[in-house]
Amino acid sequence: MAAPLTTLVMVVVVTVAVSVAGGAQAWVLKEGFYEHSCPRAEEIVKHYVGQHIPLAPSIAATLIRTHFHDCFVRGCDASVLLNGTDGAEAERDAAPNLTLRGFAFIDRIKSILEHECPGVVSCADILALATRDAISVVGGPFWRVPTGRRDGTVSIKQEALDQIPAPTMNFTDLLSAFQSKGLDLADLVWLSGAHTIGIAHCNSFSERLYNFTGKGGPQDADPSLDMEYAANLRRTKCRTPTDNTTIVEMDPGSFLTFDLSYYRGLLKRRGLFQSDAALVTDAAAKANIASVVGSPPEVFFQVFARSMVKLGMVDVKTGSEGEIRKHCALVNTHY
Ligand SMILES: *[C@@H]1O[C@H](CO)[C@@H](O)[C@H](O)[C@H]1NC(C)=O
Ligand SMILES: *[C@@H]1O[C@H](CO)[C@@H](O)[C@H](O)[C@H]1NC(C)=O
Ligand SMILES: *[C@@H]1O[C@H](CO)[C@@H](O)[C@H](O)[C@H]1NC(C)=O
Ligand SMILES: *[C@@H]1O[C@H](CO)[C@@H](O)[C@H](O)[C@H]1NC(C)=O
Ligand SMILES: *[C@@H]1O[C@H](CO)[C@@H](O)[C@H](O)[C@H]1NC(C)=O
Repeated sequence: MAAPLTTLVMVVVVTVAVSVAGGAQAWVLKEGFYEHSCPRAEEIVKHYVGQHIPLAPSIAATLIRTHFHDCFVRGCDASVLLNGTDGAEAERDAAPNLTLRGFAFIDRIKSILEHECPGVVSCADILALATRDAISVVGGPFWRVPTGRRDGTVSIKQEALDQIPAPTMNFTDLLSAFQSKGLDLADLVWLSGAHTIGIAHCNSFSERLYNFTGKGGPQDADPSLDMEYAANLRRTKCRTPTDNTTIVEMDPGSFLTFDLSYYRGLLKRRGLFQSDAALVTDAAAKANIASVVGSPPEVFFQVFARSMVKLGMVDVKTGSEGEIRKHCALVNTHY
């Protein structure tokens, strides 16, 4: 374990240096974008999140999931927040039910910011900032979020179905989904760490408990899932193969705390989704996971924050592209 840890720490140091050096020419977003146009913007988001997340910490997972979904489809442009219209369903119509609860949260922050500085702060930036602040409230790292994203005007359900990585994906498919967005193996491994605060419905992984090969029955569990854990889930949580209402913690015992126990679970073959279990089927990914598990949480926090900044840059709209929405669920031509 000593060797991969050394490598990991070196990789972190090197990449941080590169991003700082490459900052000026390559990055279209910048820290403190609203410094003059809406000086209290970040403080307002942070204050709202700080007041509300302690009362409903599970929203933190919802926000990160929503931000991830947003960035994976048409870039981080808040397209996930747009309502469908009569004729056409939007990305959010493809989102799992659990994702939807974050929308009202973002809408409320947006209305405070519209009062403070009308038409200035994008919904895409609010989502990125609120996600960062929420993770920090539940015990995760705090990092500086580059801002200046503009909001998109298009949201199409089918694009979400096609592009968001599925919980049933294997490592190869996960990695190519990430690579198609300019993200790499490290980003896949560290962003999956967000499952440390995740929850899931039984039906998103019940084939792993009951019907892995299609033969059916408890004998047909996924052999890559710890047998004892699977039996426990069948007994206490997902009691039938068709249960679509029961919610399970992805990181039992500490699902409201941003920590390393999700990765510890993966090494014990207790990842809930196939896409979690897939991370330890790749030697490089597994070595990275073993390294952070054997290190102080700050090491994970640093690489996680770096991958979050990268995620937040995917295909962003800037300058005069898109618009600054007045309401996060509606394009401005609606008015
Ligand atoms: C967006 O859609 C949701 C549910 O479909 C609805 O409750 C909400 O009022 C809509 N928002 C706007 C601004 O129309
Ligand atoms: C979403 O979940 C809520 C409560 O958990 C439930 O009342 C609602 O029916 C669900 N909606 C869908 C579309 O599954
Ligand atoms: C991953 O899954 C895809 C199907 O989604 C399959 O074609 C591919 O062979 C799988 N790769 C591995 C290495 O199992
Ligand atoms: C198990 O999976 C097979 C094929 O995927 C399906 O035909 C069958 O209905 C499933 N059985 C149960 C109990 O869900
Ligand atoms: C859950 O399953 C029941 C019965 O199988 C079905 O009627 C219902 O539509 C399902 N709900 C969702 C949200 O998939």
